[in-house]
Formats: sequence, C-alpha cells, structure tokens
Amino acid sequence: MKARTKTIYVCQSCGTQSPRWMGKCPDCSQWNSMVEERAEKSKNVGSLKRRDGSEPLLLGDVEAKDEDRFVTKIGELDRVLGGGIVAGSVVLIGGDPGIGKSTLVLQMLKQISELRGRAFYVSGEESPAQIKMRALRLGVKTENLYVLSETQLEDILHAADGLQPQVLVVDSIQTIYTSELPSAPGSVGQVREVAGRLMIHAKRTGMPTFLIGHVTKDGAIAGPRVLEHIVDTVLYFEGDKGHAFRILRAVKNRFGSTNEIGVFEMKENGLAEVANPSEIFLAERPSDATGSVVVSSLEGTRPILAELQALVTLSKLTMPRRTCIGVDFNRVSLLLAVLEKRIGMHLMGMDVFVNVVGGLAIDEPAVDLGIIAAVASSFREKPINAETVVMGEVGLAGEVRGISQAEVRLKDAAKLGFTRCVLPAMNVEKMEKRDVFKRMELMGVRSVDEAMERLF
Ligand code: TYD
Ligand code: MG
Repeated sequence: MKARTKTIYVCQSCGTQSPRWMGKCPDCSQWNSMVEERAEKSKNVGSLKRRDGSEPLLLGDVEAKDEDRFVTKIGELDRVLGGGIVAGSVVLIGGDPGIGKSTLVLQMLKQISELRGRAFYVSGEESPAQIKMRALRLGVKTENLYVLSETQLEDILHAADGLQPQVLVVDSIQTIYTSELPSAPGSVGQVREVAGRLMIHAKRTGMPTFLIGHVTKDGAIAGPRVLEHIVDTVLYFEGDKGHAFRILRAVKNRFGSTNEIGVFEMKENGLAEVANPSEIFLAERPSDATGSVVVSSLEGTRPILAELQALVTLSKLTMPRRTCIGVDFNRVSLLLAVLEKRIGMHLMGMDVFVNVVGGLAIDEPAVDLGIIAAVASSFREKPINAETVVMGEVGLAGEVRGISQAEVRLKDAAKLGFTRCVLPAMNVEKMEKRDVFKRMELMGVRSVDEAMERLF
C-alpha cells in the first residue's frame, strides 16, 4: 500500500505540533490556530550535512582560531555583530514595519559591495525599481550590488548559488515561501522552513545571510519567536517612530556579546551613525526646569546619559493617573510607594507622568534614584542642579544600593561636562582610582532621605 504523505498540524501562534487537528492549542490556548502542514522529510537533511568534521575530536587537538570575519565599516553595526560579519552566519534583523530595516541592510550592502565585492539583495516586498529609488536616495552607486524581486525560496537559492555573493540579504522572511509546503507565506510553518533551509545553505556555502523579519502584533518575530533559536544572531531594530533615533540591539549572538547596542539617526538620506548618543539625548535639555534629571543607563559596554522627566500634578480623578514612557510602569509604582512611605511625600491625590526624552527606553535599576529625584523635584517645584547626574538602585526600605560599572558611567558624565554626581555610597567606597574624578564632586548616599538632602 502506498504511504500517504504525512502531514502534521502546527499552531500558527506558538508553533506547537500535533498529529491531529485540535480546536484549541494545548500549549498557548489559542483557538482555531492549528494549520495542516507537511511533515518535514528527514532524509533530505542527511544529504545536506557536511561530511567533514563529523568525527569526534580531542579538544586539545582542536586548532583555536578566530571566526572568519569581515567588517562593514559601519561602526555601530560592526560592534553589535560582535566585530563584523562571520562567514556562514545567519543574522535575523527584526523590528516594526517602517522602522528602517531595509534602509539599514541596503547601506550595509553598499559598504560590502564597495569593500569586498558582490552583494545580493533579495526583496519579496519591493520591485527592483523601488529598490533603485531607495538606493539613489542613499547614494548607492556601486556596480557590485545585485537585486532580485522574488518570493520563492528555490529560485532565490538558485540565483544566490549562481552569483556567489559575499553577503545574501532576504528582505522579509515573511514574504518568502517554499513550494514544498502548501501553507501561505508568513505562516509559522513557512517561515520556519524557509529560515531552516537558508541556514543550511549558509552553512554549506559559507555565505553570510541576513534575514529581515517584521515583528508581529504580539511582539514576537513571525508569529512567536520561531526563528530565534534557528539563526546564529538576532538583532532588533527599535525606536520610536516619532523620533529619529534608532537602536540596534543584539538579543542573541553566537559570535559576540549580546549586550551591545548601536545607535543611529534616521535622516533624509538614510541612517547616520551616532557615535556619542549622550550628547544628542541631552541636546535640548531645559536648564532650571523642575522634574528634569540626568541619569546614566548602561547599554552593553556603553553608558548613555539621558534626560528623565517627571510631572506631578493635582489629580481630578478618583484613581490618580500614572503614566510612564520609556521606563517600567511597575518600577515607577514601586518607587512612588517608597517616596510616599519613607519620605512622606503625599502623592496619593496626584497624577504622575514619567518620561525618558528622545524615545529611549531604559530598563535598568540604576535609574531608580533618578526617577525618585525627578518626581520629588516636580512635587517640590525645586529644580535639580543642571550639572548633576543621578544614579542608584532603590530598595523597598528606601535604601540606595550599589550599581554596576559606576566608574564607566562617571567617566562618560565627566566627558560631557557634568561636575556633580549623586550615587550609592557603596560605589564611592569601592572606587579604586578616585583621583580620576578630581573635577567631579561625588556624593555617596545610603538612603533616599540622604539623596534628597544632597539634591535639594
Ligand atoms: P524602511 O527601511 O523601509 O523600513 P522597514 O524596512 O523596517 O519597513 O524605512 C522606512 C522609513 O524610513 C520610512 O518611513 C521613510 C524613512 N526613511 C528616511 O527617513 N530616510 C531615508 O533615507 C530612507 C531610505 C527612509
Ligand atoms: Mg522593508
């Protein structure tokens, strides 16, 4: 008897597989999300495997060598990649539609085609003419950049094999499909299959491959995170559409640190690197305004100074409003409770708004004391000295706890002309070369109370 083609049912929301159809996914409880897909044939994979290197080796005999890398000379991008593009690696760049992913990769391809040779840009979203328009805007004049408008994976791989480019970019993995699966492009099955095949292709040919992925409504790439574990590196391109700043963040990187960020500014003719983000985030800071304070947030190895603003106003609502942009809501609620209980500040009948200027999002406990200072400053209507930076983590008992890498942050602040810093006493005590900060007045504090005294 002829065996039937095996199919499985895959939840389009979380990727759970089942041999039978179910109305509700047992894992993510989503209704009506199971879609029939062809079961992957395992015999294909065997023939694609590389034969060499499959013998077990003694670790002592393994030659230690760095990965084969090349740089794009876009410093912010190279750093996030861990020092350049690794041969045979697959990098996923995720982000909201319209944030600038296509612009970024086109600028990268421009560099590569000028520095190294052929680069190949496959778009499933735009026609060659549209790509050309964008390229003109970005000043891409190279002879070595090839483009293709195509959505079928097999054709893309065929074209890439013929061209042998230094880098292959597939713009939006959600638009590409393989004819081996019956489901529509963009479904979890297709996205996973296409990414898997591109991964095998990259490893076999050594061709670095970049995949662009739109973040879907729930914040996951292509449905939920189905790609993150397949690829080598995951970068997110983030930013507020109303602001020109874009941050490229490594979420996973097999060839480098995941702590790095790259900062760009979207301009008329493409993305420009921002070498010193602090300067820009502080550029329009009002002097002597209440509720404004400068905090330091460590992004990877890089400290960024940002302005944090708070506004405390009398509320007309039974449930006073708490609005936070760029900082965690729960964190702010907690800190307001500390202010209320430990300092005796009556915020009960007050609306409190907290905002990080420039569309930056800070997710670090070291800004706790900054939030407290900003709220207190607005509440008391007393401005904080414009040359003061505030940092420190705050505990529920109102104690100020030490933060990581205080010296790095201080150096950055000193460079930008700040002369005073309120920081955890513990950090001041532990500091080895205090004379580096001769021109900086370091005010170590142990509690929120003490910090208030120093600030106002
Ligand atoms: P795009 O790269 O198409 O975003 P994505 O690929 O992530 O969907 O960028 C789209 C936005 O960037 C669009 O709103 C216009 C803006 N933009 C500029 O401001 N300057 C430029 O030089 C370019 C090419 C785009
Ligand atoms: Mg795009």
